[in-house]
Amino acid sequence: MSGLSVLEQVLDLARWAPSGDNTQVWRFELLGALHVAVHCHDTREHCVYDLDGHPSQISYGSLFETLAIAASGHGLRAAITRRNDSLDQRPVFDVHLTPDAAIEPSPLISAITRRSVQRRPMSTRMLTQAEKQALQACVGDQYAVMWLEGFSAKLRTARLMFNNAKLRLTMPEAYETHRKIIHWGVTHSPDRVPDQALGVDAMTLKLMKWAMVSWKRLATMNRLMGTAAPRMQMDFVPGIACAAHFVIKSKRQPVTIDDYVAAGRALQRFWLTATDLGLQMQPEMTPLIFSKYVREKTRFTETVSLHRLAASLERDTAALIFNDSNFPVYMGRVGAGKAPAARSERKPLSELMLP
Ligand SMILES: Cc1cc2nc3c(=O)[nH]c(=O)nc-3n(C[C@H](O)[C@H](O)[C@H](O)COP(=O)(O)O)c2cc1C
Repeated sequence: MSGLSVLEQVLDLARWAPSGDNTQVWRFELLGALHVAVHCHDTREHCVYDLDGHPSQISYGSLFETLAIAASGHGLRAAITRRNDSLDQRPVFDVHLTPDAAIEPSPLISAITRRSVQRRPMSTRMLTQAEKQALQACVGDQYAVMWLEGFSAKLRTARLMFNNAKLRLTMPEAYETHRKIIHWGVTHSPDRVPDQALGVDAMTLKLMKWAMVSWKRLATMNRLMGTAAPRMQMDFVPGIACAAHFVIKSKRQPVTIDDYVAAGRALQRFWLTATDLGLQMQPEMTPLIFSKYVREKTRFTETVSLHRLAASLERDTAALIFNDSNFPVYMGRVGAGKAPAARSERKPLSELMLP
């Protein structure tokens, strides 16, 4: 295959792992035929969704799960260890691949490049027992999957997402992130999220693009027109148009980077299994992220008027999903339906390599 070494072939597939806003927060340093150091970095310095680095750490986990699945195609086992002397914000992981006769090619290999986010409406067909069982089983016994299904649970979740989106759309700190990560006028993007993948219609997209030239312009438009139209399209309607919302909960409280990496590995098994079952998925992480900020008193916005909204959303999120002895680590919606026509792609492997 195109002159790539086995390790490079594994990395070439692993780079299709998802990361928040397609940030691809990893770089590869080849240290031997079957040894790579993965230099990761979180985005807490400039991304309001990542102030504690946990979403990036979940992304590292999704990379390592994808890498291990890709390696299984070559009969290789992946051993992954975090270097103790690396910084929390820039952890380095050593990955050693070893031949192992007991390793079978994973049935999820073919799902790696097909898996993508579907932000548009999905089918409302409920998940079958077999689908739910497969999704529950793949996360492993350290995690439980909570389902929010049936019309009234979906309505409550759609409302939560709709209300949460007000925070996202009216906060200057979030505008800074969106400005950088939306790739305008494209259906595919190697390093950002294409505007066509956001799940809004052409007219709304045009308005968004016009308004997002500056915070001043966006704030004025928000004041004059409100944010209900994009929130209906991006949050409320898709919140109903799906089979169910799901929450992956850890049975142990996640504390360390390794705990979040493990959660990311479980998430990627869930997402690839959903893809393998012919299902679509969209993460819905903002309620988890902002409610954690409120609980831990993390200062995330200078806009004082949003503090009250965030506190009330924290109470709604707690009632809906922080309601047993487990610890929510990931949330999203899932359902049958078509794969998205627009999607994020990835930087070529050569750009992810350190010299
Ligand atoms: C930790 C994490 C959090 C994410 N949060 C969201 C989210 O809240 N909403 C959303 O629509 N997509 C979310 N995504 C999806 C990413 O934007 C997406 O995976 C990335 O842009 C790559 O696109 P692809 O998955 O289609 O390949 C998240 C992904 C990860 C790994």
